[in-house]
Amino acid sequence: MMERIFPDPAVLSGAALEHEVLAAPPENRRSTRPWVSFNFIASIDGAATMDGLSGKLGNAWDLRVFSLMRQTADVVLVGAQTVRAEGYGGELLSKAAQKWRAENWLSEHPPVAIVSGSLNLDPGLEVFTQAPVRPLVLTLASAPQERREALSEVSDVVTVGEDSLDVARLITELSGRGYKNLHSEGGPTLLGSFAAAGRVDELNLTVSPMLVGGSAGRIAHSPGSHATGSHVAGAQAAVASGMTLTRILKAESMLFLRYVRPAT
Ligand SMILES: NC(=O)c1ccc[n+]([C@@H]2O[C@H](COP(=O)([O-])OP(=O)(O)OC[C@H]3O[C@@H](n4cnc5c(N)ncnc54)[C@H](OP(=O)(O)O)[C@@H]3O)[C@@H](O)[C@H]2O)c1
Repeated sequence: MMERIFPDPAVLSGAALEHEVLAAPPENRRSTRPWVSFNFIASIDGAATMDGLSGKLGNAWDLRVFSLMRQTADVVLVGAQTVRAEGYGGELLSKAAQKWRAENWLSEHPPVAIVSGSLNLDPGLEVFTQAPVRPLVLTLASAPQERREALSEVSDVVTVGEDSLDVARLITELSGRGYKNLHSEGGPTLLGSFAAAGRVDELNLTVSPMLVGGSAGRIAHSPGSHATGSHVAGAQAAVASGMTLTRILKAESMLFLRYVRPAT
């Protein structure tokens, strides 16, 4: 059973849950600039992964909410390591979700936009070969030219920074393509980059009722702040910013929290 705990406590039917998650939040509707949302899951002891992946933290309820959030995206933004670790092959949406999008004047498939400084991405990955719409790869001017050329065969490669990621430029590039709802499914380095730039408008956090222990990282870390084996350039200072809680859903012992950036 899915319940809304806040605001207006209620038990939600499947249709009510859909309405709840698919309806554009009022803050988004009022926003005149692109809206950047992130969706993450973490265990109650703060782990963003279990055995190196996020999937084991979730359940069917989480998958349902995750899928509904993706359904309204103009573009699905992901960091390269999440693509390498989790894979992003084929259609991202069910047939029903595609139909809903068509009925709501959205393209049937949101493109995937992958952020990669190094362009260490195999053009043979399913995210490229099985994509229903051409993906974007958002990279740096300093990325190796031969990788840029190889990936240009299977994606639109766009420069969004010189030696380090320019988050504002990334957002401008995507909004210039008509994408207003920029929805990100992670991972932690990407969230850290957007948080450092003050460009996280919405953070959806599923709190998974698990104690994971171990050495798993959090849902955000600043690029360059610790060794990840990645090619992210330039340490960025951590920036703390307050967020406002606007919704709590609950299914069994799992919580779904929605936070938005306070209006300035
Ligand atoms: N709990 C959750 O909800 C959740 C969600 C997503 C992912 N994850 C997990 O998170 C782990 C991956 O973590 P991660 O932090 O490495 O993932 P990530 O943010 O998806 O990917 C990091 C990579 O993205 C590119 N990138 C991101 N920010 C950049 C910047 N500021 N400048 C240049 N490049 C940038 C770089 O790609 P290049 O290396 O190609 O240069 C970097 O190595 C995986 O185990 C995944 O399963 C968990």
